Amino acid sequence: MNPLHTTEGLLRFGLRDRWYPLCPSGHVRPGELVRIERAGEQLLLWRDAAGAVHVQEDRCPHRAARLSQGVHMGDRVACNYHGVQVDAEGTVVSVPGSPGCALEGRRVLRTFPAEEHAGAIFAWFGLDESAPPAPLEVPEPIAGGEWSQFLCYVEWDAPYLYSLDNLLDPMHGAFLHRNSHTMFAGKREAVFQIRATDKGFVFEKTDQRGVNFDWVELTHGGADWVTLDIPYPDTAGPGGPFTIVAGLAAISENRHAGFFWRCRKVSGWERDSWRFLYRNRLEARHYAVLEQDREMAEAMPADAWDRENLYQHDIALVRMRRLLKAEAAKQVARLTEPATAAPVPVA
Ligand code: FES
Ligand SMILES: [Fe+2]
Repeated sequence: MNPLHTTEGLLRFGLRDRWYPLCPSGHVRPGELVRIERAGEQLLLWRDAAGAVHVQEDRCPHRAARLSQGVHMGDRVACNYHGVQVDAEGTVVSVPGSPGCALEGRRVLRTFPAEEHAGAIFAWFGLDESAPPAPLEVPEPIAGGEWSQFLCYVEWDAPYLYSLDNLLDPMHGAFLHRNSHTMFAGKREAVFQIRATDKGFVFEKTDQRGVNFDWVELTHGGADWVTLDIPYPDTAGPGGPFTIVAGLAAISENRHAGFFWRCRKVSGWERDSWRFLYRNRLEARHYAVLEQDREMAEAMPADAWDRENLYQHDIALVRMRRLLKAEAAKQVARLTEPATAAPVPVA
């Protein structure tokens, strides 16, 4: 059975009807055919002559060879096996070995709506691939304007759900990252509360704000985003706290891609100053903090969720898992519901 047709499989590879970040924009250079795996799909990424990015199944509609082993032809891709050419819409535009054959003109290559924002390529994975995608709504800190941001991209050998757990767990800041330059301060005890929002929830300490990793917001919708603030010491230059916008995408069951946009609301000379400081001093420190998260996630057992003893600091994880499981079950029900039967003519 296709794992993407099961609740468990959708949880492991990522729910449908979502935009997922796939990779940094720079990973797909003009003229190249790039193969990646994301959300349980084998994907081909390429740019047309105008630079627009296209995301399609890496599977030739003729006999399933990898299109990524083919030839980039500007506005189309040619398979290397028998030369079949497919355009950006997924239509076979030429079958050179049998001109005029019925395959020509047919739209048979699965094509995923794609967009680029804030230095990353996103694609829509629809449950019903013939339906139009929801709009990709990008959180304010990475939507441009007064905010300045850097994208940090990682690939870790752990289920993406472990990283989602980690992001929804502010308390690890005061323990795992206690020796970092941003998360050394504040109490090591807390009482949390959860607050529903229009599209998700905020999980926050009731007795401390602006001192450590003290709150996190999950936004559900056309894409899943996690947003949080980390207070910055004065030595980190001008601007308010350091906002992190995170997005995740499964690569396989036990590997995922993580996108961490590091954002600050600064303009003018202050923006230049913060960008200079970030590149020269802060970026390496932030990577060191992420390494602590990576080491923790990669060493966790595959059955971590099966034998837990959760406490009050874990209620955001429980809420998130419940949301995802309920939605996955609904998606499976939609996938397996019988097609509407044709009316039986009455004699
Ligand atoms: S398998 Fe691609 S052209 Fe035959
Ligand atoms: Fe962390």
